[in-house]
Amino acid sequence: MSGNSTAEKEQIERPALWRSRAKVMALCSALLLLASCRGWPSERPPVHLNPNMDKQPKYLPQAQSRFFYTGAAMQVPVPGTVARGELRENEEFYTGKSFWGFFVPKIPMEVNEGLISRGRERYQIYCTPCHGERGDGHGMLSERAGVRTANLLEERIREMPDGRIYYVISNGVGLMPSYRYPIQPRDRWAIVSHVRRLQQESN
Ligand code: HEC
Repeated sequence: MSGNSTAEKEQIERPALWRSRAKVMALCSALLLLASCRGWPSERPPVHLNPNMDKQPKYLPQAQSRFFYTGAAMQVPVPGTVARGELRENEEFYTGKSFWGFFVPKIPMEVNEGLISRGRERYQIYCTPCHGERGDGHGMLSERAGVRTANLLEERIREMPDGRIYYVISNGVGLMPSYRYPIQPRDRWAIVSHVRRLQQESN
């Protein structure tokens, strides 16, 4: 045996080494397979080895709470709370009425071509179906379904203060629904400026 070189010795031992390596590999892949065993339908919750941030103490919407006196997790904001950018100090701009409750006679912002063309665009989206593109009340709904709408070119509406038209867009009137949510205050004034333009044009 003393004549055996180290190379020969290695050659003899190699198959045994391979076998043990193969065993380790098999064990590792079996473990990997097991670790990713999710997806079979099961009634039981999956084994959660690392809960990490999946489970955290938090309130869900409409949940109960023993912490607050009201017993509800969702709390009403403190009275007078103002959301960012929602401080509506300019009453005339937001309601169309002055401090004393009168409709403002004129649009309380600068009227320029930019505003009017924005108003035309918004008018065509929201008002045309009923009042018609020219404001004469012959929109699709009145033409095809016989829905009666107002003719915005009428003397009565020409004489309305701007704030009144703004108010009608914000709150609706009679059969006309309110457009408070889809149309933001600035755009409502823009529409008013376009309605005035339509009235001028039909002279
Ligand atoms: C769904 C149909 C409909 C849409 C859309 C609509 N209106 Fe009207 N509008 C009406 C009807 C109907 C009346 C008449 C209400 C009444 O007198 O009972 C009316 C009345 C009016 C009046 C007269 C209010 C008054 O006091 O007599 C104005 C001004 C007006 N609409 C503006 C607008 C503007 C501006 C828009 C777009 C933002 C608009 N409307 C969108 C149906 C509509």
